[in-house]
Amino acid sequence: MESTVKALLTAGKGILAADESSPTIAKRFTDIDLASTEESRRAYRELLFTTRELNEFISGTILFDETIRQSLRDGVSMPEALAKQGIIPGIKVDKGTVALVNFAGEKVTQGLDGLRERLAEYRELGARFTKWRAVITIGEHIPTRTCLEANAGSLAMFAALSQEAGLVPMVEPEVLMDGNHTIAQCEEVTAATLEAVFSALLEHRVLFEQILLKTGMVLSGKECSEQAEVAEVARATIRCLRRVVPAAVPGIVFLSGGQSDEEASQRLNAICSVSDLPWMLSFSFGRALQAPALKVWKGAPDNVAAAQRALHHRAKCNSFAVQGKYSSQMETAGT
Ligand code: 13P
Repeated sequence: MESTVKALLTAGKGILAADESSPTIAKRFTDIDLASTEESRRAYRELLFTTRELNEFISGTILFDETIRQSLRDGVSMPEALAKQGIIPGIKVDKGTVALVNFAGEKVTQGLDGLRERLAEYRELGARFTKWRAVITIGEHIPTRTCLEANAGSLAMFAALSQEAGLVPMVEPEVLMDGNHTIAQCEEVTAATLEAVFSALLEHRVLFEQILLKTGMVLSGKECSEQAEVAEVARATIRCLRRVVPAAVPGIVFLSGGQSDEEASQRLNAICSVSDLPWMLSFSFGRALQAPALKVWKGAPDNVAAAQRALHHRAKCNSFAVQGKYSSQMETAGT
C-alpha cells in the first residue's frame, strides 16, 4: 500500500475518475445523444485509457465494476492496459446512495454487505486502490449530525476493509455544490463532515498514512447569488483542510463536482499554489477531465483521436495547476 500511495501521489500527476455507474454514464451519454450499451461504454473507456501519453499527467484511474471486467478491442483487459502505461487501476466499491430513513433530503451510501469478498476479487482483477463516495447535502437544517455520523461510519468500515485487503482506500465525503448556500456555510459543513470522518477512521483503527482523502473544494452553492472569487475559494479550502485533516494523511485529491473545466483548473491552481502544507494536493476529476472529450467524441469512431486530444489537454492543464503553473492562456493556445 505504501508504494501505491507514493505512486498515486507522484508530483504533477492526478487521478482520472472514470467510475461513473451505469445510470450516471447513461446520463452523460444522453447529453451527446448516444445510447448507453455495454459496447458503447466499453468503447468510451477504451478511448480514455488508450490516450497517448496520458501517463505524463495521470497516475491512477478509478474504474466501475463493469469496466474492470472489460477489455480493449485487442483483448487486453482494461486494468492491464492501464497498468502497462504505468497508470494504477482503482475501483469504486460503493453501491450508490439511498435516502436516509427518517431524515428527509439526506442520503447514506450502501455497499458494505459482502464487501470483504468483493475486495479480494477486485485485487485479483488488478485493482490497487478503492473508492467510496458519501454524499452530504446542504439545505435548511441539514446536514444533521445523524447523517454525518452514519456516512462517516460507513466510510470508516470501507477504509478498514480496504486496508485489510491491501488496497489503498480513497475516502470521499462529497459536500454537494447544489443549493444557494454561501461559501461560509460550505466551509462549516465541510469541516464538520471531515471532523466526523476522521474521528470514525480513528475509532476503526484505519491507518491515516495509507489513505487518500477525496474532497470537494470549499465553494459558494451553485445557486448562491454571491459567487466567491478564486482567491477566496483557495483561502477557505486551505483553512478548512488545515483545521481538520490530520498531517499523517499523505494526500488530498479534489473532485470537480460540477464546476466548469476551466473554473476547476483555475481554483485548483490557486489552492495548490499555497506552500507549506503537510499533505500533497492533487486532482481526481471526473467531469472536469472528461467533458470536452465526450462532447467531441459523440460516439463516432472518426472522432476518437480528437477526443483523446481533448482529454490530454485537460489532463495537462490540471497537471500544470497542481504545480501552480496553469494560466487561462493554456486554453487559447490549445497546448
Ligand atoms: P466529478 O469530478 O465529476 O465530481 O467526479 C469525481 C468523482 O469521482 C465523484 O465521485
